[in-house]
Amino acid sequence: MDQKDSLLDRITNRTARVGVIGLGYVGLPLALLFEEAGFPVIGFDVDPAKAEALHRGESYIRHIGAEKVSQAFARGRIVATTDFDRLGECDAVVICVPTPLGRHREPDLSFIRSTVAEMAQRLRAGQLVVLESTTYPGTTREELVPPFEARGLECGTDFFVAFSPEREDPGNPRFHTQNIPKVVGGIDPASQEVATALYGAAVAEVVAVSSPEVAEAAKLFENIFRAVNIALANEMKMVLDRMGVNVWEVIEAARTKPFGFMPFYPGPGLGGHCIPLDPFYLTWKAAEYGTWARFIELAGDINTSMPAYVVDRTAKALNRHGKSLKGSRVLVLGLSYKANIDDDRESPSFEIIEKLREGGATAAYCDPYIPVSRPGREHDIGLASVACSGEEFARHDVLVVATAHDDFRVPSLYRDVRLVVDTRNLMAPLDLGPGGPEIVQA
Ligand SMILES: NC(=O)c1ccc[n+]([C@@H]2O[C@H](COP(=O)([O-])OP(=O)(O)OC[C@H]3O[C@@H](n4cnc5c(N)ncnc54)[C@H](O)[C@@H]3O)[C@@H](O)[C@H]2O)c1
Repeated sequence: MDQKDSLLDRITNRTARVGVIGLGYVGLPLALLFEEAGFPVIGFDVDPAKAEALHRGESYIRHIGAEKVSQAFARGRIVATTDFDRLGECDAVVICVPTPLGRHREPDLSFIRSTVAEMAQRLRAGQLVVLESTTYPGTTREELVPPFEARGLECGTDFFVAFSPEREDPGNPRFHTQNIPKVVGGIDPASQEVATALYGAAVAEVVAVSSPEVAEAAKLFENIFRAVNIALANEMKMVLDRMGVNVWEVIEAARTKPFGFMPFYPGPGLGGHCIPLDPFYLTWKAAEYGTWARFIELAGDINTSMPAYVVDRTAKALNRHGKSLKGSRVLVLGLSYKANIDDDRESPSFEIIEKLREGGATAAYCDPYIPVSRPGREHDIGLASVACSGEEFARHDVLVVATAHDDFRVPSLYRDVRLVVDTRNLMAPLDLGPGGPEIVQA
């Protein structure tokens, strides 16, 4: 039996050992999914604390319950380790390491490259390697294939390589790793067949495409689509605000069109590990081909200018209340980039807080999901959350709603508040009764 058929056999009878490298937001649910589908799984991470926590039955990602982790590890089919020697035991290796941007918005492939370096020492014939980290078209072919070939192995015969992007939407109650269609692009037909078989054994639907480049570009297009449309919503907000027209009402009206319109919402700027960063993977690669992705750059300009816009609106609102930004106490509601989750990566709240401080204000934050701020890629605000209480809220000259956590949708919190700058339209549906605070859209 050749390598492909033998791997397909092991996938069908669930004896193929699946390695997942990088046990973060993407890798941990994926490792648990393969375990649930009946495969023996080894999760690899450079962080020993993660492996230890998982073996204690704990989850370090809030929306993945500890119960799910402890049940999976109790079944004994899954282990988590920092011992990369065990890569040789795996029949399929799925790479889910970070792909951030460098200081000049250039792709930082160092995590992928160090993973490939770890693998290169332990590669063997018969393995399937799938990259899941978001990246520019060409990465899979350029970074993953050569180390195998350097060992005299031939892709499609001795080993198999594919790209399959992750479409995780953390905290989404309807869509999760198992029921989100999985795009898979193999380097060659044999790679496509084994990668499709592996994912087909674990997820509801596999969408096979003709190459890893198509799969890589599809992922980027999905996120660029969001970044551009959010920028458009932000631009509409700023333009309509000048005209005294409420953008939120406009969007609600426009979305009643049953075709050809899809609502996107303005906010304080982009956050999360994906939408603010991924588009620049394509602009960077585009430059190599002498072409310029103008929409992406423009959307980036608009979205990154939003924290400054919010602070400007805050300063003007304070001014109308006879106060200057300098010396005012400002409470930012929400540090995570998205409602009801604890992920603060690239959150615009950090920049809002820094800009408030630059303007001489005393900034604090309230976020029930993040009791103490953590140093980020570019920011370290060094604060702890204040209590989510009416008494605390009343101590500040102005509140800036940055994240629409449900915890903030309690009218009594705002009883003694004078001014709220709202970037999420969180306040509009609240019945604050007469004498409530002035609400300023930003
Ligand atoms: N978070 C999301 O919602 C999401 C959605 C779609 C795609 N992605 C993409 O998936 C990839 C991973 O993102 P994430 O959010 O899971 O990141 P993460 O930071 O949550 O997790 C990455 C994990 O990899 C580990 N790691 C780092 N270097 C390693 C190495 N050399 N070997 C082994 N482990 C290593 C880290 O310790 C961490 O546990 C990125 O490319 C990201 O763009 C993320």
